Amino acid sequence: MTRSQGPVVALVPAAGQGVRLGESKPKAFVDLGGKAMLIHAVDGLLRSGAVDRVIVIVPEEMVEATQAMMSGDVTVVAGGSERTDSVRAGLAVADDARYVLVHDAARALTPPSLIARVVAELRSGRSAVIPVLPVSDTIKTVDVLGAVTSTPERSELRAVQTPQGFTAELLRRAYAEANGVATDDAGLVERLGERVRSIVGEPTAFKITTPLDLLLARALVEEGTR
Ligand code: C5P
Repeated sequence: MTRSQGPVVALVPAAGQGVRLGESKPKAFVDLGGKAMLIHAVDGLLRSGAVDRVIVIVPEEMVEATQAMMSGDVTVVAGGSERTDSVRAGLAVADDARYVLVHDAARALTPPSLIARVVAELRSGRSAVIPVLPVSDTIKTVDVLGAVTSTPERSELRAVQTPQGFTAELLRRAYAEANGVATDDAGLVERLGERVRSIVGEPTAFKITTPLDLLLARALVEEGTR
């Protein structure tokens, strides 16, 4: 088998509580035009035509109910207290993967074409691929008291989206050697000193985090844009 072949397995960590959204249920199960956010995210992965199998990671008490919601080749497992614990739980049942995508359930409206582009980069020989967009705000770092400590050059900054794609070998190595948690998986790969390739993301792959994001997502679904 050449490097470009082999199964693509997508992990969808959906075990967070999503407190910033202010809804009564875990974020991934919040309704978006008649379907849970998680279902939108899984459908997008399967519709990309680039993903062979999906593994969804949810809070332990929701495993059974989530499996009942799924059709197609979708496995559901229990997550952990940090996002990295949830990804680790998914990786543990992805033995067959040659490539792994890590996607957020909260990026429910990610276009299938973006997912296919990430996979195409992996199949062309890249080991780590992330979608990014330029930032429109100026970003500052601050200390615990709120005093500004620096202003990074905006033209060099990018907001990072998912799915993030990796060869299974590299992601497993990053998790094996990872100490501490990370807000994205590419961060763990960077700590190994490995090169991460960025590609142009999509505005509709935004993370539904706040009530304002949810309003926008619902408007997009209603409008039939997604
Ligand atoms: O908290 P954040 O918005 O970065 O979470 C990104 C994704 O990771 C969400 O889809 C969330 O459900 C998931 N997550 C998880 N396990 C956790 C925390 C977050 O699967 N313990």
